[in-house]
Amino acid sequence: MLKEEKINNAPNNTVVEKNGTYCNVIHGDCRSELANFAGKVDLIVTSPPYADARRKHYDSVHPDKFAEWFLTFHESFYNALKPSGSLIINIKDKVVDGVRHRFVWHTIEALCERGWFSIDDYLWHKTNPMPGSWPTRLRDGWEYCFHLAKSKRPFFEPKAVEIPIGDWKHSRLRKLGENDLSRHNSVNASGFGRDISKWVGKETVLPSNVLSLALVGKNKGHPAVFPVELPAFFIKLLCPEDGFVVDPFGGSGSTGIAALALGRNSALIDNNALYYEQAVERLLHESLAQIPDSPERFPVQPKLYEP
Ligand SMILES: C[S@@+](CC[C@H](N)C(=O)[O-])C[C@H]1O[C@@H](n2cnc3c(N)ncnc32)[C@H](O)[C@@H]1O
Repeated sequence: MLKEEKINNAPNNTVVEKNGTYCNVIHGDCRSELANFAGKVDLIVTSPPYADARRKHYDSVHPDKFAEWFLTFHESFYNALKPSGSLIINIKDKVVDGVRHRFVWHTIEALCERGWFSIDDYLWHKTNPMPGSWPTRLRDGWEYCFHLAKSKRPFFEPKAVEIPIGDWKHSRLRKLGENDLSRHNSVNASGFGRDISKWVGKETVLPSNVLSLALVGKNKGHPAVFPVELPAFFIKLLCPEDGFVVDPFGGSGSTGIAALALGRNSALIDNNALYYEQAVERLLHESLAQIPDSPERFPVQPKLYEP
């Protein structure tokens, strides 16, 4: 049962509750609003405005100025997170005059110089990239999801994102040879090895750091919606079950939908009044069906590395 509740009679602050889990939707600038969550957040998962890309829809920044602009958020993000907390930034460089501008790399480097640890780079592989043709490039089929953290060992629960091992195990694991029963180093001495026997009896394995997810087709009243499964993946991996999630560039509310479905309390912040209202509507009316854990989410089934 969903419940909408205005807190403190504030026109810019709505709490949507489902089965005892809540999402606090806030209209405001996240740099100031995050002060209310200092030290309480386990995971910030977000997609900031892309440089110059959406000028018609909301404020955007020139690629040359993007790193400097993003650093104005560094302190509020850092202070909001617990010491074990993580920050996921979904973003993609823009092409300027036919050349990829590297403002995204500069931004990540600048954040690391200010104390963030760069834990890993995930890729969102778009299974249905936008059509089009360009003189020197192909269709753009992926975006970054940078995993930054306040410590080198942030909260991490890989079991929560394991995927089915796949049908190939029936053929491959039934015929284990002598080399398969101990750690076997590659013939080219690359240092990589495998011990296939460790996979016997397993039903699930770790996914890779590439997430294959389709672009959102349906209009959610926002020009840059990411699929709910994207924040959902990181919430399962990086936020404890009783933890707190924030999306400081909340947009249409995708992160809030994911957090509610996964039983994590959350907050969404957006400085655009229309998006704030649309996010509340979406949280209230969109089905909060459980996030699918099906293998279709990862069309590429896990295969063993055979050196
Ligand atoms: C790329 S969109 C996020 C879309 C979102 N991931 C979704 O699935 O709908 C970025 C959002 O950041 C908001 N924004 C820009 N500057 C902001 C600020 N200083 N504080 C809060 N929100 C801001 C914009 O209004 C926009 O809705």
